[in-house]
Amino acid sequence: IKRVTTATFRKMKQDKQKITMLTAYDYPTAKIIDANQVDGILVGDSLGMVVLGYEDTTKVTMEDMIHHTKAVSRGTERALVVADMPFLSYHMGTTKSVYNAGRLIQEGNAQAVKLEGGREVLEDIKAIIKAGIPVMGHIGLTPQSIHNIGGYKVQGKTVEQAKRLVDDAKALEEAGVFAIVLELVPAELAEIITSQLSIPTIGIGAGVGCDGQILVSHDMLGLYQGKTAKFVKRYSEIGEQMEKAVSKYVQEVKQGTFPREEHSYHADSETIKGLYG
Ligand code: KIV
Ligand code: NA
Repeated sequence: IKRVTTATFRKMKQDKQKITMLTAYDYPTAKIIDANQVDGILVGDSLGMVVLGYEDTTKVTMEDMIHHTKAVSRGTERALVVADMPFLSYHMGTTKSVYNAGRLIQEGNAQAVKLEGGREVLEDIKAIIKAGIPVMGHIGLTPQSIHNIGGYKVQGKTVEQAKRLVDDAKALEEAGVFAIVLELVPAELAEIITSQLSIPTIGIGAGVGCDGQILVSHDMLGLYQGKTAKFVKRYSEIGEQMEKAVSKYVQEVKQGTFPREEHSYHADSETIKGLYG
């Protein structure tokens, strides 16, 4: 199986083929996603919320990211594996940024990294790319700055904000990122940004005009039981199915209807007799 690469992403945009991405944090989920023609798997720092139970993504560490990126990489043959750089792993000088990005590649076995921000992180992005590591940008709503933004709201609604996003997108392309995630921006603006770039845009809550789409797998599978945003389409209710399975198991164990004959192993009668001398 041929691995999807950053060059594949670029070519897909040229060929007007939509790019699909989903997040994954573990081996079995990555395996299912990979086997079903998803082009890219993001080991998102959404890990903190949907898997580790944190309030937001600012608690996620490099160790958390490496641990989960390793598991996802082991379950992936075809999809491009992108690992998120967690909070503060790229705001402490370009040397640290390159080092941390490198760890996600060298230890995590990712093929690329993603980090949040526009022109304010340009030097970090350039340094990482210079080290031979492909970078994916992420603008619009950037959850690591949630305390500064003050809530999960749509970005780029004023002319000034919209212009800043367009300029950030262009600066990121200029710096050499291979794709840009546009999160929570008006569909019209995402379409304009998409048309002005030669690298693909991957939208989440950014309308149908992007070159590709990404969703948090726990959200679209209905596994994450918390409140989900309007842009999330639930393709399944896995959480409900899990609830049903768990409660049925409890009921059957209590009733003595599990395990049954077909779930049991048997000893030779000789062995059992021998036990009593
Ligand atoms: O962490 C994440 O899952 C993300 C996507 C929402 C783009 O960054
Ligand atoms: Na993220």
